[in-house]
Amino acid sequence: MWHFRFWDVQDVAVFLSITLYMCHLAGAISINSSQRNLIRSVQEDVFFSVDVTCSGVPTIQWSFMSGEGSRSIGTWQPRVFTNITEDYSGRVETYENGSMGLLDLRLQDSGYYVVSVEDPAGNSQDVGFVLKVNEVLYEDLQYLSVTAIALMFVAGLLMLTMWLLHKACRRIKAWRRRKQMPENDATELQPL
Ligand SMILES: *[C@@H]1O[C@H](CO)[C@@H](O)[C@H](O)[C@H]1NC(C)=O
Ligand SMILES: *[C@@H]1O[C@H](CO)[C@@H](O)[C@H](O)[C@H]1NC(C)=O
Repeated sequence: MWHFRFWDVQDVAVFLSITLYMCHLAGAISINSSQRNLIRSVQEDVFFSVDVTCSGVPTIQWSFMSGEGSRSIGTWQPRVFTNITEDYSGRVETYENGSMGLLDLRLQDSGYYVVSVEDPAGNSQDVGFVLKVNEVLYEDLQYLSVTAIALMFVAGLLMLTMWLLHKACRRIKAWRRRKQMPENDATELQPL
């Protein structure tokens, strides 16, 4: 009898722990993301891809952290509300799975991005991303070389024009001299 009760207690314990584990699973938030280190160039877009799952509608908040501190980019609940901070309005795309797109990147966007997910029960979980925004040196160089070529072309055109004008002047002078020649001949011939 005592032996039987012992197993009873153990069964209850196992049952309880399994139930607790199931509850824990049901309440667990999972944030899946593949790439957390991203490198982009100025004016490009970046897509922070995550897939959030939890019981109930999650509240998703994205924040930006840099040397100057942390600030909120936006908060949303899929199909409930979306609240984007004024500084980021027009540059942020929100997705139901928690992903965020940030458009038209600037140098100052380099830093650490954190997504915080909270479920209706108040549990929360965070995942961080690192974004590096590079300057577009290559395009600057290309722009400079195009400008240099254009300037050289204009200079060449000016030199050609001046050479042609110079030649034309000499021709006109020669033509005038030739036109005056007979008169000169006549005046020179007269005394003879
Ligand atoms: C989240 O959703 C977007 C748009 O539907 C999709 O492109 C992206 O791959 C999803 N992310 C993950 C990790 O599933
Ligand atoms: C939107 O977010 C800002 C800052 O996070 C907050 O001050 C504001 O009250 C929010 N607006 C709404 C409508 O929730």
